Amino acid sequence: MANEEREFKRDRRSFLGKLTLGLFGIGIVGQGWTYLRALVPNILYEPPVKFKVGRPEELAEGVNFIETQRVFIIKEGSQYSCISAKCTHLGCTVKSVSLDHEQTVKIGGKEVTVNSEFLCPCHGSKFRQDGSPYSGPAPTPLPWFKMEIAPEDGQLVVDVSSAVDSDIRLKV
Ligand code: FES
Repeated sequence: MANEEREFKRDRRSFLGKLTLGLFGIGIVGQGWTYLRALVPNILYEPPVKFKVGRPEELAEGVNFIETQRVFIIKEGSQYSCISAKCTHLGCTVKSVSLDHEQTVKIGGKEVTVNSEFLCPCHGSKFRQDGSPYSGPAPTPLPWFKMEIAPEDGQLVVDVSSAVDSDIRLKV
């Protein structure tokens, strides 16, 4: 009887020991998996830095607003350029506004004739045609982005990761 009881206690101790080790192992593996999984995001929130805005002939002469990407594509004959529509103050979308009459203004030390400007509806910043701020809280100019032609389908491509000078044009 005493032997059976000792045997039973030894088996129970052995079982509990194995169970503890097994649970510890499962805990370690689960924790490791959680750490590794945290390194891979479920969703990529970053918008693409390059996007297509259509074929050159599909755009109207002048300023074209691409709402989904919040940029303006400016078509001047066979030349194209792209300027951001995100206000440099707090990021509201600016509007392109035609002036009642042409104005001569100083841009970069040169006298330039302009017929439109950009206005921010949120806090009233105003930007010249070249994107430079001249009124309101916006601290910096609207950036201009590099454009190119997609070789596979001839569409215009904007690269918002590459800022360019305001006088750079893509000739098509
Ligand atoms: S967000 Fe444009 S002026 Fe404030």
